[in-house]
Amino acid sequence: MQGKSSYQQSPSSGRRGDSPAARIIEDVLQETVVVFGMGFSHFVKLLFQKPIYAGIAAFVLYGTTLFCCYMGWHLRLLVWMAPELLGTKFLTWIYHQSVASHLCVASGLLTVCISVVLGFQLRFTRTKYQKLFQAIGLTNKVGECPVLVSHKDIDDKRLQLNFDTRNIGKARFEAATSDLEAAFGKAVESIEHGQNQKFILLTLTEKKLPNYVGFEEVCTKEKLKPYSFYIGRALDTVVQKDICDLPHMLIAGTTGAGKSCFFKQTLVGLLQSSPHMQMYLIDLKAGLEMIDFVDAPNVRVIKNMADAVYILKKMKLEMNARFAYLEKEKLKFIEPKRDKRERIIVAVDEASVLYMKRSKDDPEANLAAQAQRLTDDLSKLARAAGIHLILATQKVSKEIVATSIQENISARMCFKMNTLQGSLIMLGNKDASELPDTKGRGIWSLGNKLTVVQAPYISDVDIVDRCSRIKAEFAKEVRKLYQPMIEIPVQQKAASSELENAANGSKSANETDANTADSVGDLANAADAEGDEVCNL
Ligand SMILES: Nc1ncnc2c1ncn2[C@@H]1O[C@H](COP(=O)(O)OP(=O)(O)OP(=O)(O)O)[C@@H](O)[C@H]1O
Ligand SMILES: [Mg+2]
Repeated sequence: MQGKSSYQQSPSSGRRGDSPAARIIEDVLQETVVVFGMGFSHFVKLLFQKPIYAGIAAFVLYGTTLFCCYMGWHLRLLVWMAPELLGTKFLTWIYHQSVASHLCVASGLLTVCISVVLGFQLRFTRTKYQKLFQAIGLTNKVGECPVLVSHKDIDDKRLQLNFDTRNIGKARFEAATSDLEAAFGKAVESIEHGQNQKFILLTLTEKKLPNYVGFEEVCTKEKLKPYSFYIGRALDTVVQKDICDLPHMLIAGTTGAGKSCFFKQTLVGLLQSSPHMQMYLIDLKAGLEMIDFVDAPNVRVIKNMADAVYILKKMKLEMNARFAYLEKEKLKFIEPKRDKRERIIVAVDEASVLYMKRSKDDPEANLAAQAQRLTDDLSKLARAAGIHLILATQKVSKEIVATSIQENISARMCFKMNTLQGSLIMLGNKDASELPDTKGRGIWSLGNKLTVVQAPYISDVDIVDRCSRIKAEFAKEVRKLYQPMIEIPVQQKAASSELENAANGSKSANETDANTADSVGDLANAADAEGDEVCNL
């Protein structure tokens, strides 16, 4: 497709022996082949990208050909175009051909026409971009400019151009960003490598997303509605969502992309906007990430596997109790003020640590399996009960988050993914793997709508400050809990730390570990019995 057309050739490449006329004919032929080739490949791509349109076009073509055969219009046209050239014998022969042959010829002619038009269009666009590159001096050592290979509209504001770099490095494109913006008249959103280092994907946008948005800034711009939280700054607006509409959320992205920060600002947003909310934060990095929330009286931080399973069991019991209540009262869903029950958030950062399948001799294997099962139950049923799950993880695969859980969580915030496969699992397309390296830049996906956002950044100091304000509101009884928080019993805590020590200890102590795991499992099972207590509250 990037064959040497005349506009790419250096003047010295002329053929000395040829006559000028032969040279012109050869150039025209070569150019026609290149233009046709470009157009044809673009046409084939379009057919695959838009199969519905391709189907409609095929149907229209079939109908038109049938009609023409019936009316003999194409023959009349041929006679009109070349009355002497085509004899009656030849026309009669054409007339007697089958509809299928007519259809083949008609599709062939149409393909050639469309390919040539598309080819000229692409050729014109290529030349336009090459002139722009030439004007800003983005050329290689032999004066060649990057060549446009393909282009696509990502949405109504963003255009992605794929260039063959012609040996011009990514760093040179990046250094020329402001020149590129001036030349294209659009903001450069990202410059990334394409299918390999030879290609550059240049994403241009009408408006540019900021590389940083503060939590305070979005709060000032747009107030949160009840039970809502911020997703981030999109091109035109600040996006916020009501947790009741989701009702669960999955956050994913490569390490350092901004998952935990987004997770925390989501929780802060929900704490601020929700008058009746309980939160259970499972943070298996020893609770260090979530430590800033401990001041809020309606938040509990869970730091180990056994406690996490205990809480999940309690959640399931609570969910069942709420269903029983809804049935008794003939209601469809929990409304905190009416039903005197809080909305409950169960949030897991580093979900992979909690759910990952472990080998049989691992003391935590049984707990991980239980956690998967309980989360699966909650993800399926907890919507009406007002219990919501928020899971953050680096990778989303069936070994880490069971497929059934993934299927029940349609709201997704996806930060930069290192692999195409990761992006495909999260969003169903490669967009997350093509995001720029900007921290906090992510794609919000709900239903089939994707929105690129810059997530708000919240500092730890800000979280502590906002949580202590919530604490003060509880102290002044501006806020009250309808139901008591679920606490981890003291014996459970002791057993959990024993298990933690065992898990951290040497593998040679497998037997002891298994015994400890059993005892913790028993305690977690005891939650079933205790659950009735919670349910009746
Ligand atoms: N929205 C944001 N805006 C600006 N900077 C951010 C944003 N989110 C995160 N960062 C920066 O990136 C760093 C890493 O973020 P974070 O800890 O949230 O990443 P992560 O995806 O959770 O990584 P890991 O998988 O290693 O836990 C933060 O310390 C912060 O400096
Ligand atoms: Mg993190």
